[in-house]
Amino acid sequence: MKILGIETSCDETAAAVVSETGDFSHPWSVASSVIASQVDLHREWGGVVPELASRQHVRDICGVVEQALKDGHVGWADLDAIAVTQGPGLVGSLLIGVAFAKSLAASLAIPLVPVHHLAGHIESLVVENGILPLPAVALVVSGGHTSLYLVRSQGEYLLAGRTRDDAAGEAFDKVATLMGLEYPGGPVIDRLAKTGDDHSVDFPVARITHADRNDGPPLTRPVGFSAAMRGRTEFSFSGLKTAVKRYVAKRLTLLNRDTLPTSEVADICASFQRVVVETLLDRTFETARSFGARSVGIAGGVSANSRLRVEAERRSEAVGLPLFLPSLALATDNAAMIAAAGLRNLNAGKTASLDLNAYASLGLDDPGC
Ligand code: KG4
Ligand code: ZN
Repeated sequence: MKILGIETSCDETAAAVVSETGDFSHPWSVASSVIASQVDLHREWGGVVPELASRQHVRDICGVVEQALKDGHVGWADLDAIAVTQGPGLVGSLLIGVAFAKSLAASLAIPLVPVHHLAGHIESLVVENGILPLPAVALVVSGGHTSLYLVRSQGEYLLAGRTRDDAAGEAFDKVATLMGLEYPGGPVIDRLAKTGDDHSVDFPVARITHADRNDGPPLTRPVGFSAAMRGRTEFSFSGLKTAVKRYVAKRLTLLNRDTLPTSEVADICASFQRVVVETLLDRTFETARSFGARSVGIAGGVSANSRLRVEAERRSEAVGLPLFLPSLALATDNAAMIAAAGLRNLNAGKTASLDLNAYASLGLDDPGC
């Protein structure tokens, strides 16, 4: 089986060709993966502008798909199915990919396979590392999501916890903006933090104490999930972001300046990053312990963070739990992960008709995912 994956959920137009290997432990091989990033377009606005993103997807999608076929030495007739991100994401952006995928599936008369964006991120772990020892706990941490999943069998993802407010990547981006740093903030903070003192500022670690606070839509909790565990698997980053904002304002007033000295910015970056990384890893490894997980995976844009990678490795060794991380190319949005998750869905008979729609928010256990 050879599948073309298409990803347009946010500000990357991506296409990839992935084939099945026939090897259960390393099921997929990436023939090509092409990504057209819109980051330069959105930088001047300090974040993703949805309408600009949709228009840029329209401009890029034909070229990106053609390049993916060319790089993979694949013709249209070699494709067995088309996989596409159905959600969650920016709906105007998603619709470009979904409409394009439908046209291809209809004209080639091959199956159309809907893929949940977060399933793609989780499967990005398998693309390079092979299948994870199960049960696994997977943290998906990106600009739009911070969610913990329990993976009990291949392709089955049970939500164990998520952020009650900002996603971790969003916190990186917002903290960078308030210090006048470039968008996207994650890579910039990561770089600046290397020269800073990570204990120079004592920012608060968020704790969810009230189980009924800002509950959001109902979650399908994994079996064995006790109410007591709930506060320990959920995240909150908006308080931390506000603490950084207050600290920066206080320092600017005290120094009577418009911008902070470079060394102070580096210290703030390092201190903020330390708290985010600790919070993410505390919850992830505690959840893994509670569920008796045999491995831990961390995926999504923030999994590119250098401190997160080093600290996660350290903890994994300390507790003897194998850790799976995507390479940097597969950490941020890409279509190889969508194609891989698409192959899993295709084999499970999860295909869509040509009235497939895109959804800004979508649960991983919603029908069709
Ligand atoms: O997965 P992704 O490409 O898109 C979403 O699905 O959101 O993640 C993008 C996010 C951005 O918030 C970006 O700042 C963050 O990932 N990011 C990082 C790093 N590289 C990207 N955050 C922290 N450290 C990094 N090195
Ligand atoms: Zn993503």
